[in-house]
Amino acid sequence: VPVESKEHNVTQDVLDLLDTKEPLQTSEDFRAIPQAEIKAALDRLASRSMVEYKANDSEQVLLSKEAEAIVAEGSHEYKVWKAVKDAGKVPIKELANVVGAESAKVGQGNAFKNKWVKKEGDSLVLVADSVQDTTRELLQGIQETKTLADTKTLNDLKKRKLVTLSKVIHYTVSKGPKYAKEMPVEVTDLTADMLTSGSWEAANFKPYNFNALGANQDAGSLHPLNKVRQEFRNMFFSQGFVEMPTGHFVDSGFWNFDALFVPQQHPARDVQDTFFISDPPRADKPRADPEHEATMDAMESGSRKLFATPESEKRQIKPRDFEQYWKNIQDVHQHGAFGSIGYRYPWSEDECLRLVLRTHTTAVSTWVLHRLAEDPRPAKYFSIDRVFRNETVDATHLAEFHQIEGVIADFGLTLGGLMKFLEDFFANMGIDGLRFKPAYNPYTEPSMEVFGYHKGLKRWLEIGNSGMFRPEMLEPMGLPKDMRVYGFGLSLERPTMMKYGVSNIRELLGHKVDLAWIKEQPAVRLEKE
Ligand code: PHE
Repeated sequence: VPVESKEHNVTQDVLDLLDTKEPLQTSEDFRAIPQAEIKAALDRLASRSMVEYKANDSEQVLLSKEAEAIVAEGSHEYKVWKAVKDAGKVPIKELANVVGAESAKVGQGNAFKNKWVKKEGDSLVLVADSVQDTTRELLQGIQETKTLADTKTLNDLKKRKLVTLSKVIHYTVSKGPKYAKEMPVEVTDLTADMLTSGSWEAANFKPYNFNALGANQDAGSLHPLNKVRQEFRNMFFSQGFVEMPTGHFVDSGFWNFDALFVPQQHPARDVQDTFFISDPPRADKPRADPEHEATMDAMESGSRKLFATPESEKRQIKPRDFEQYWKNIQDVHQHGAFGSIGYRYPWSEDECLRLVLRTHTTAVSTWVLHRLAEDPRPAKYFSIDRVFRNETVDATHLAEFHQIEGVIADFGLTLGGLMKFLEDFFANMGIDGLRFKPAYNPYTEPSMEVFGYHKGLKRWLEIGNSGMFRPEMLEPMGLPKDMRVYGFGLSLERPTMMKYGVSNIRELLGHKVDLAWIKEQPAVRLEKE
């Protein structure tokens, strides 16, 4: 390995030189070797007690570009004097043309003060026949020694931006108790042979180097989307939200659309917008699946159980009636029910049972709310997971992305409460002063699009969709008439792109993602910037 052999050479050079010169000063004896390299060699020797060293730091005085020019060509006042001497007389108006603007400006005054030249009419004429350019000599001295003892002059030169100070470390090195002219051979492994022969007793083992940097572990790393997701999860958990079980991507039209009062002719249910599953083509009718629900009941979310169970909370659980729920959904679409006139179209069971890649996580919110109807009580739920839409892919759209969704159920909720909740929620991410725009969702009324002002982009961005779930969705489940439920959703990609400065969504997700980029990305915090 080249680095090691180079280091080894420095190591040997130090040993060689110490043989004849002690102590040695790295600043003089190893002037050309970079600090880090000499330090590595000294550490190697010191860990074997072959040398001892002391680090000293001192300040070097370095010339600025302007000062270097003065050393090369003379000071400004010298140039003025020289121009006058060469020409005998220089019109003041011409001076800048002869010596340059900077020297004319600075040099004239000093040349007067030094009594080198004087004014005669509109011209400069000579006073001193020969001069000594002390500024140049001073700077020349500094260039050679990199020091200046006189602090008053040094401060003056610093103020005139002719010199800068820079710290340098150098080492004083002397022989250690185990000094030798050459590095002894070192044993790195203790072998069975060494143990049986007893040669281990005399062996010279290579010491551990605890200062060495570890080898690159090439470990895995979280995707930025996962990091931002975790931040949001923490935010939800800290506010008492319970995470919904979103682990399945395929759902029936019932849970994705019909139970949400999305009519079967709605454009979102077109193949243009939704991916349908061809095999199997149909779902079973919704029913209580004891095995599935036992798993859900046992699930912990944050610090609490996902659902109340009679055992855990000793509450009266109302058994769900799927026959009735199914009929209620049919009625509310086809004829109207629960005080709604409905859509009045022939509702198709087949359409309802088609399988889809879920188009929103609201499908899961709906399932969770229908479980809440077993024991209606105030509740807060959230989920962050993947959804699918049959869309044309471009810089800001993918056919699959992630939704952050929140649901709050309580008695006596008002729209103002939702607006306040959203304001606080986005303020946590550093987005203040939201604007709300009336919108339409088949399952919420009223519905609001949420806009936030992006200070970097200097424009209003749509950051979410929200609303209060309709009675046509909540009452067929068996939730009480006076229970109100807020819902809101936003994409995980948008805040992630904002946080990580990504402008093309395809650089974040999908087959074009640069894995090296993913690895390098820092952790994220959703606090105010
Ligand atoms: N499902 C909506 C969407 O896809 C988000 C939303 C959730 C809106 C809940 C209102 C209530 O954008």
